[in-house]
Amino acid sequence: MPLYAKRLDDLGVEGSFTFGAEIARAIAAGRDVVRLTIGEPDFDSAPHVNEAGIAEIRRGNTHYSDPQGILPLRQAIATYVARTRGIPVEPDRVIVLSGAKPSISLTIQTYVDPGDEVICPAPGFAIYEGWTTFMGGVPVPLRLREERDFAFTAEDLAAVITPKTKLIMLCSPSNPTGGVLPASLLAEVAAVIRERCRPDVRVYSDEIYEHIVFDGAVHASIASQPGMAERTVIASGASKGFAMTGWRLGWAVLPTADEAQTFKRQVIQTTSCVAPFTQEAGRVALESPASYDQIARMVESFRARRDWVVPALNAIPGVTCRSPHGAFYVFPNIAGVCRTLGVLDAYDALPADARRQTSPSRLFQLFALYRHGVAVLHRESFGVRGAEGQHYVRLSIATSMDQLREGVARIAAAAADRAGFAQFMTEPESRR
Ligand SMILES: Cc1ncc(COP(=O)(O)O)c(C=O)c1O
Repeated sequence: MPLYAKRLDDLGVEGSFTFGAEIARAIAAGRDVVRLTIGEPDFDSAPHVNEAGIAEIRRGNTHYSDPQGILPLRQAIATYVARTRGIPVEPDRVIVLSGAKPSISLTIQTYVDPGDEVICPAPGFAIYEGWTTFMGGVPVPLRLREERDFAFTAEDLAAVITPKTKLIMLCSPSNPTGGVLPASLLAEVAAVIRERCRPDVRVYSDEIYEHIVFDGAVHASIASQPGMAERTVIASGASKGFAMTGWRLGWAVLPTADEAQTFKRQVIQTTSCVAPFTQEAGRVALESPASYDQIARMVESFRARRDWVVPALNAIPGVTCRSPHGAFYVFPNIAGVCRTLGVLDAYDALPADARRQTSPSRLFQLFALYRHGVAVLHRESFGVRGAEGQHYVRLSIATSMDQLREGVARIAAAAADRAGFAQFMTEPESRR
């Protein structure tokens, strides 16, 4: 009997966390590394939020709390979501979780039986795909199109809906592309869902980057469309907008109070509750005008970096890069680099087994790290389904301008180093 259950193989693991070990190895080998992999703001949580959390700990608010989330926070979330999405939200439909990530597994566990299909954006947050296969479901890629700034069309969605569709994952602003789904597109998407899907088909709307949009864009939620609030799980949290990744605070608004209770039952059986002082700090974050001033400053800083990095990447021969409308990532297409650097030929020359373990963008990623000291994430970190023949990397721009300048200079050097790449392919690091 094997030690580990077989289903563990299907879970996958988030690339930005695992590549950390690779970066540590490169650093241990003496390489200075510019990290453009981090999926969190390079800003600290705001002083008024920190003070609120500390005060709660000082006054002894350090015990178990309501597994669904403390009522004052659920009220604050309900008020905020109702106002920003233009829909009624009652606190008994809100569940508070330790980050936005747990709502992904809870949603898939709650609604997906073996054989059910889950439509996942491709590229997208790979955890959607991992939890689907872990639960015996079937991930179905919904291709995001570069030429549409990484949106999809209502027809694209209609083409992948089948009678087995149970869950449709949406993410806007998107990790990894920075694409944003405008309200006009969401209206068309909602019409397709209303027409083609049974009422028990759920939409998971990942809105964790809701605060980070550029160029005057306004975040739009599919839940605001007629008839969609009763089908949609709205997921968000404090991690990205409020720069609170380490506090572990997220939430979901469920279509019904009954569905929120099923989530609560699973929280009781796993983590019991979110730390109450974290929740109080989250309430202060949501309700204080000062939080939104900090968000505005942070977003302006991401915008300025985006406006520098996109033309700088486009200036590298073989790279094309769209300007993202939200989040803090850029997702350049490196197909030209893979061609001129010899990556595609090197990949094609690998034995079939080795080819299955890697990809052209993975080879470029390892080369850029081990030979040029710059860490980025490769295409398959964002789902393997729908990734065939695609050559992209993701850069996080949540880092200083100095680091960004240095990182892009190193990518440019890697992209031009054909001899270095040929040599690298003979070395053990290329097979990691
Ligand atoms: C699309 C998306 N959803 C959810 C999460 C998880 O957020 P949290 O840290 O709040 O669990 C992330 C984090 O990278 C993300 O990119």
